[in-house]
Amino acid sequence: VIRTPRPSETETLVQLSRRTGLFTPSEADALLRSTLDALHDGTLIGPHLVRVIAGEADDHPLGWAYAAESTTAPGVWDVWWIGVDPAAHGRGVGTELLDSLEREMRAAKARVVVIETSDGAGLARARRFYPSRGYVERGRIPDFYAPGEAKVIFSKSIEVET
Ligand SMILES: CC(C)(COP(=O)(O)OP(=O)(O)OC[C@H]1O[C@@H](n2cnc3c(N)ncnc32)[C@H](O)[C@@H]1OP(=O)(O)O)[C@@H](O)C(=O)NCCC(=O)NCCS
Repeated sequence: VIRTPRPSETETLVQLSRRTGLFTPSEADALLRSTLDALHDGTLIGPHLVRVIAGEADDHPLGWAYAAESTTAPGVWDVWWIGVDPAAHGRGVGTELLDSLEREMRAAKARVVVIETSDGAGLARARRFYPSRGYVERGRIPDFYAPGEAKVIFSKSIEVET
């Protein structure tokens, strides 16, 4: 089941993201909790998608994602976060969530989807995940996140239906 997150789930979704081991508590609050709070406050401006993928039987969140249209380039969408509970990795949950986001972005007339990640060891799986789903690495910015930790930029062009 793919749906919008409920305000009562914010803590569950932040904890799920923290279990990926990618964030300190303050980073999780600054990057993820603030997005969910803004969504529920109605202050997340511009076209955006925040989606939860939940188990069909119990409706418990297995992962979630946040994408938004670029404020400077119409039709370009950034996937700012996609994460699946480590207990559910490797079962196709991330693929289903990304496919669903792509369908919604296409319906919103997206031309290009951009995903940025880091070349850190913790993101090796993510860097393999995107190319096998049609994303192409377009470049790296050395020392972006920290000395010795580059930003890796992927994108995928979406066929525009005429
Ligand atoms: C990247 C991520 C979203 C993928 O989600 P997922 O549900 O594990 O993805 P899927 O199950 O659809 O596919 C995972 C791939 O790993 C493979 N895999 C094999 N064994 C696996 C295992 N034990 N665990 C995980 N993946 C496994 C899958 O077969 C699949 O391979 P493929 O790309 O060749 O098809 C997830 O790993 C994640 O949340 N990572 C931590 C957060 C993160 O890095 N987010 C991205 C920030 S930029």
